[in-house]
Order: sequence, then C-alpha cells, then structure tokens
Amino acid sequence: MDQETTPVGLDAFGQLKRTHTCGELREEHVGQRALLMGWVHRRRDLGGLIFIHLRDREGITQGVFDAEVSAEVHAKAESLRSEFVAAIEGLVIKRDADTINPALATGTIEIAVDKLYILNDARTPPFGLDDETIGEESRLRYRYVDFRRQQMQRNLRFRHKASFAIREAFNDLGFLEIETPMMTRSTPEGARDYLVPSRIQQGSFYALPQSPQLFKQLLMVGGFDRYFQIVRCFRDEDLRADRQPEFTQIDLEMSFVREDDVLDAVETVVRRTLEAADISTTHFPLPRMSFADAIEKYGSDKPDLRLPPLERVNDLFADLVTDGLPLVAVRIPNVGQLSRREREEFRPYCMEHGIKVFDDPKGLTKKFPESMETLAQRIGLTDNDLLLIATLAEMPKGPKPDESTLQAIGGLRLHAGHKLKDKHGLLDPKDFRFLWVTEFPMFEWDEDEGRWFAAHHPFTSPHEDDFDKLESHPHQVRSRAYDLVLNGVELGSGSIRIHRRDIQALVFKALGFSEEDARHRFGFFLDALEYGTPPHGGFAVGLDRLIMLLAGETTIRDVIPFPKTAKGADIMCDAPNTVPTKQLTELGIALRRPVS
Ligand code: AMO
Repeated sequence: MDQETTPVGLDAFGQLKRTHTCGELREEHVGQRALLMGWVHRRRDLGGLIFIHLRDREGITQGVFDAEVSAEVHAKAESLRSEFVAAIEGLVIKRDADTINPALATGTIEIAVDKLYILNDARTPPFGLDDETIGEESRLRYRYVDFRRQQMQRNLRFRHKASFAIREAFNDLGFLEIETPMMTRSTPEGARDYLVPSRIQQGSFYALPQSPQLFKQLLMVGGFDRYFQIVRCFRDEDLRADRQPEFTQIDLEMSFVREDDVLDAVETVVRRTLEAADISTTHFPLPRMSFADAIEKYGSDKPDLRLPPLERVNDLFADLVTDGLPLVAVRIPNVGQLSRREREEFRPYCMEHGIKVFDDPKGLTKKFPESMETLAQRIGLTDNDLLLIATLAEMPKGPKPDESTLQAIGGLRLHAGHKLKDKHGLLDPKDFRFLWVTEFPMFEWDEDEGRWFAAHHPFTSPHEDDFDKLESHPHQVRSRAYDLVLNGVELGSGSIRIHRRDIQALVFKALGFSEEDARHRFGFFLDALEYGTPPHGGFAVGLDRLIMLLAGETTIRDVIPFPKTAKGADIMCDAPNTVPTKQLTELGIALRRPVS
C-alpha cells in the first residue's frame, strides 16, 4: 500500500512480514525478535503499561507497551480497540512466574512491543467473542464475526481435518474421486427438488441433485469400479436440527461387491475419521442388527444404544394387555427412585402419543409380585432404575400395529432418557455407539397417496429370497439396504443396487409406475442397465451429521460455515430473495402474484 493513500491512523502493510503466528511462541524463542499479526482480542490499560492479547487462528499472544520504553508506541496503543487488526513487533521476553497465564499456550512469554502497525480499525463487534449466550440470529447475521469464536474455529478446523482424513482413506482403498453434475434433471422420489430455470430452453428446468445416486451408478456401468465424492446435495424439505436444504454427503459406490464389502469400506472411512478426532473408544467391526430386531428391541430404525433395550412383557402381565398389542417394559438405569411428581412429567408425552403407561413400581409389585420378580431378572432391573410398562391405549391405524406400538414406546424410552439425562448423566455425547441396521423393508405404504414407496430408493435390490413376493406380498419384501446409526442419529444409508433390467421392471411395477412412467422418469438410466451393468452397491454418510456428533454439537448449523436458518433463509446475504422482472422475463417466467 502506498504511504500517500494509507487512511489516516493506519499503517502501510506492504513492507511487513510476519515471523510467527499468535499461537507459536514459547520460552525457547525468548531473546528473539518477532512480528505477529492478528486481531486485538483484549486490551488492558494500566496507565504506563498497556497489555493486549493479539489473536489469530492459531492462538493468542500477549504484547506489552511500556510508556518508558517508547512513549510514541505506547500512545498509539491507546487507540487500539477490540477487533482492530494490528501487527506488533518486538523482543520475546519471559514472563515473571506470577504473571504466567496457564490458559494460553503462549502464556509463559510476551512481546515487549517497540513497533505497532495498525492495519485496520473495526466497528464495535455485535457480540463478545467469549459470550456463550449469543442468539443464533445474531451469529448467522454476522457469521464472519462468529467465525472468530473458538467454537467455530474448532469445528471448521475439525471438519477440514476429517474431510482430509476421509479423502486419504478412500485413496488408500483405491477409490477415485469423480465429480457429478450440480445441474441435472428432476427425478422426484423422496424429497422435493430445487429447480433452476433454463434461459435457453424456456419452460424447462434443471434440478439440483438430491444425491448423485444415478450418476454414481452410471460410473459403475462405465467401469470405474470404485468411486467416491464429498459432495453437496440439495433437498427442499422441512428443516430440523440435523437437516439443511444443502448439505454434504460422503458418497461412494463399488462394483462386484456384496453388503460386507461396502460396510467394510465405510468402516475404514469412519475409523480414519475417528482417528482424526482422537477418539479411540470405538471397537471395530461395528455391531450389526436387522431392521426387524431394531424395531423389536428399540422401537426405532435408528436405535440409541446408550439406553437399555425394550422388553416385550405380554406373557408376564396379561391383564394389562390391550387388543393383543405389545406390552413393553422400558428401563432407564441409575436415576434413583423418582417421586410421583417426577413420574408425572412423562404424562403429557404419553397423552400426546396415545400411550397407556404403568409407572408405579410399588403398585405393580403388590399386584403382580411374581411377574415383577421375573421381569427384574430378565432385564436386570434394580431399585435404582426407572421402570415404565407401556402399550398403546387404542389399536393404531395402518398396516403394522405391532410396529407402530413399539415405535411409540421407543419414543417414550428416548423422551424419558432425555428428560433425565442432565440430572443423572445419561446419554453421554462422548459415548459413541455406532450400529449397522440391515435388511430394511423394501417398501413403505403411503396412506395419503395410497401407494407403496421405496423405503430407500427404487434402485435398491430386493433380498434375493424375496423376489417372488414382489408382486404378491410387497410389504414382506426385505431389501438389501443398510443404515449406519450413531447415538440415535441416522448417519448414512446405502444398498446393493438392482443391476438386472427385469428386476428393476418388477420393482417399478410394485411401486405403481407404468412402463411409460418409468421410461419418462428414468429412461436414460434404464437404457444404461442394458449395456452390461456389473453387480454394485454403495453408501452415503451425511458429513455434517458425522462432524456434528464427533464435535459434540447438537445442530449441524454449528459445523456448516454458512448454514440456513430453520426457515431456510440465509439472513446474512438475505436469500432467498426476489429478482427484477427483467431477469424473470429472460427466463420466460411470470409470477402468478407479482411480489412488490
Ligand atoms: P439418504 O437419502 O439416506 O441416501 O442420505 C444419506 C445421508 O445423508 C444425510 N442427509 C442429510 N443431512 C443433512 N440435511 C439433510 N437434509 C439430509 N438428508 C440426508 C443423512 C443421510 O443418512 N443416495 C442415497 C445413498 C446411497 O444409497 O448410496 C442417499 O442419498 O446423514
């Protein structure tokens, strides 16, 4: 920068060269000169002495300005404010024993500053960087300031480290990273698509990919054998703490494989990610459970293994059974004897979900002494545990009443665990309990649309033993789909795919697509299946969810640099937004109700 054009009070930057980062200096550097650059994190003015904490992404170093050493530099330091950008130069000196700051990695030294360069001033930040109570609205509006907070620095650095380890793992396993298009065609099945209008072909739209599913399968047809990509996906669906409209998948596909090969590859990638996070408590291979067992034992297709399983007790308490529905014992361990009032706190949840619950241990023991004793032995119940025996008050709607009952009580199990977790140290976020859930059902019935939907996606292979049920008993068909679950969160999904055209046609038929429908939606893909498709399968892990859980966060927004709010908005750059009519006209689009 030219001296002439430097704003008043600011120094030229061009000649300065930093020698160290703000996290680097230690006692071994004492006696050397150093020039650091960063943001003024804190300033303490003790009259003749001014102390500043200078911060960059590597850490914080203290600089001291002594009026007796240089009145001019000391005077300049008086003008420093929070978040000013500055360079400090001086001698690295050892701190006296009583001024050592153990909270800083550089806390045994400081810089006796004899040169200060103010590189930029800053408006007063919208929030303090150490403030733990900042609202999310503010954090997202001023995301660039939020990035300076330790939490975001830590999370995004970890995200980098994990992505890097993942790429290395894939490379070591012989996978090729191949890009797939971001502008593609809409193939609605699953979530809604985000559409992109074409200017050149007015009235036609691209869609942003919900996942690279078809493209990665086409890469297998094309002979690439092992593909991976860390790839952005887009889904227009209702948002939650673990859902964003754009999110990132670790996506892979392999040829000439069966389930075990895919699971092994994913486990290697997970293991390497855990190593990057310095987590060594997880044992491999990861446990596996069929979908049917997951529902029976946990009332969920994504079991949280940090709480004990459910136990069906129809045989022990026949008098409490309604309409033959499952009667289920829920045990929450080590919470001590709960008072009646504490137990009543579960009532609203039970009311809302139509659950009938028997929660009075003394009453139950009085009425069913032998059954209670057998139950205690079966599930390892102690006096310190909470016991809820539950069923549904009425026969649930839908084709699978047993499953619906178990799911409702699985929900109660988690609800109780979460309500009691803070007081009793349950559901430790650092206890990483992975699980494979296998053999998902092939189809799910959609009451509103009155048709079967693919539970995973329509390219998933049915279980070989169930081919003959595709037409007659679709609800009994198991698929070759599997999920990876961590602490009750679905981390990823995958399947062995259909590689035969005749089986694909049967599946489309079961889904209620006519030949014509199927051709219209997926014609290019069906054609490809006829040109020598190898047996293949794959998987996709939600990178944001994986990072969120390993970083100990509770929302993926805290591990995504620029996330959307719960309403799908980017409040920093104000998107989505209206566009000028001229832009719409070029695209051949007219709004039904023009927005002013
Ligand atoms: P699926 O639709 O199950 O499978 O997605 C895989 C994983 O992606 C993550 N995920 C999301 N993360 C954040 N926000 C979202 N809106 C969101 N939606 C999904 C989840 C999920 O488990 N093509 C198949 C995979 C395959 O068969 O290979 C697929 O996309 O962690």
